[in-house]
Amino acid sequence: MSSTQNSNQAVLILIKPDGLKKSLTGNILTRLSETKLEIVAAKMVRVSKKLAEEHYQHLKDKPFFQELIKYLQGELHDRKKVMALIYWGDDAIEKCRGLAGATNPEQADPTSIRGSYGRILTSGLFENVIHVSSNVSEAEREIKLWFSPAEIIVDLYPKKETVFKECKKQEWA
Ligand code: PPS
Repeated sequence: MSSTQNSNQAVLILIKPDGLKKSLTGNILTRLSETKLEIVAAKMVRVSKKLAEEHYQHLKDKPFFQELIKYLQGELHDRKKVMALIYWGDDAIEKCRGLAGATNPEQADPTSIRGSYGRILTSGLFENVIHVSSNVSEAEREIKLWFSPAEIIVDLYPKKETVFKECKKQEWA
């Protein structure tokens, strides 16, 4: 099920801390269900500084980078979590980005997710409710950053098996 065999694509969606704080999860998932794409992974994530910095690595020289990292970590919203999902199917990236709307919420179509629920802070930071991977290679990089192979119910990318010795793992008591 390689992303290059046909027009099926995987895309990472993050419902950011403002989306969770504003109780928009249901609305956003309902909007995204219009795409008829398949959800192949979903989880709540407490975002470390390292994960946030790696996710936005291409923006590290931007003046808003530090605030962006705090935003993704939930420090601006008292909601220290994001919901991470992978949608999979035909033209998944374009379909999800279309529903999300432009990155700048003021420029987004008012009926889009970001146009409906996003805003720009007085600092200039876009508080735009969701993240959607921008292209196939970014989607692969982001999905491998946020998910392990075992958390995804389809085979998206080549994987390998590693035996870990004396690996501490939690189980139910
Ligand atoms: S770029 O310029 O194409 O490399 O950037 P892009 O891939 O569109 O990602 C920019 C992310 O930074 C968030 N952000 C802002 N961008 C531009 N200007 C301002 N002021 C700003 N504030 C935040 C923007 O929302 C993009 O993150 P995501 O998660 O993709 O929305």
